[in-house]
Amino acid sequence: MRILSGIQPSGTPHIGNYVGAMKQWASSQNAEAFYCVVDLHALTLQIDPATLREQTIDWVAWLLATGLDPEVCTLFIQSHVPYHAQMAWLLENVTTFGELSRMTQFKEKAQRQEGYRVGLFTYPVLMAADILLYDAREVPVGDDQRQHIELAREIAERFNNRFGETFTMPVGVQPTVGARIMDLQEPTRKMSKSVSSPMGSIYLRDDPKEIEKKIKKAVTDTDGEVRFDWETKPGLSNLLELFASLSGEKPEAIAARYSRYGDLKKDLAALVVESLVPIGARYRALRADPAALAAIVERGARKAAAVSGPVYRRAAEAMGLF
Ligand code: AMP
Ligand code: TRP
Repeated sequence: MRILSGIQPSGTPHIGNYVGAMKQWASSQNAEAFYCVVDLHALTLQIDPATLREQTIDWVAWLLATGLDPEVCTLFIQSHVPYHAQMAWLLENVTTFGELSRMTQFKEKAQRQEGYRVGLFTYPVLMAADILLYDAREVPVGDDQRQHIELAREIAERFNNRFGETFTMPVGVQPTVGARIMDLQEPTRKMSKSVSSPMGSIYLRDDPKEIEKKIKKAVTDTDGEVRFDWETKPGLSNLLELFASLSGEKPEAIAARYSRYGDLKKDLAALVVESLVPIGARYRALRADPAALAAIVERGARKAAAVSGPVYRRAAEAMGLF
């Protein structure tokens, strides 16, 4: 199954990224799976150059640490494959201003940035280019990316209708649990890399003490009943959802086992620690050898270009580029 997904090298990975994206990538990897660290997308964040460079290779290491195997799938850095930016330009000419104006993530981010740049606006077109360049059928992403996937589908269909069958129609795939982990302190807001909330986010680099403290202090409610119910008990439901996404059970089944919040929190903390400790150890070992990481992404970029180059040329020719 041809798969493509991408992740921005911004901030440091949190457990929402892990259960919503990284863990899924690892479990669905195969010879036809392409995963990229989208550094071109991260430019829209006005990130400092040294930080971007550092975080890009950091994310490569985290992705390997969470289970991607470069002998099985293709892992690469977006900017190493020139077709992404080139394809985005082609697709900007089949996307309307109105469509991009309706993107929720754009509206939210624009509100937070003074004098935001054009790249923030055209970001979803670059994402569509990432996907369509690989003839991807499945795009594993968290819940927040649904609208962008819909746009990619819309663009593919319009392009195919206007210029002839060129692109494969992709679908977004969300994990059944853990597609939207909420902030531990503010359970009505998604755990996010772009909003700083150290007590509300569990980072993959947190040590066991920090993890225990954050889960212990996670906001719940006062009615005292352990029940999976997002409407009335968002804090507790978030903990159950996180638990379920790590243990492979159903949130309701976990809720049925507990009568006290404290016991649930204690077991959840132990489960999170048990899941993250080996990942942290692998990350540190990988990060200690930057030359090996560079070699992995260099080979990844060659494999990625061999697939996306012909698709780019197919699209360029269909549009009439000589
Ligand atoms: P971002 O952190 O927004 O760059 O997202 C990177 C990937 O992680 C995307 O596939 C997101 O959908 C996913 N993701 C981000 N935040 C969460 C969250 N709180 N819960 C589940 N998945 C998430
Ligand atoms: N926009 C996605 C995010 O913020 C990252 C991304 C870029 C992506 N290109 C992609 C995800 C292609 C899936 C497929 O999470």
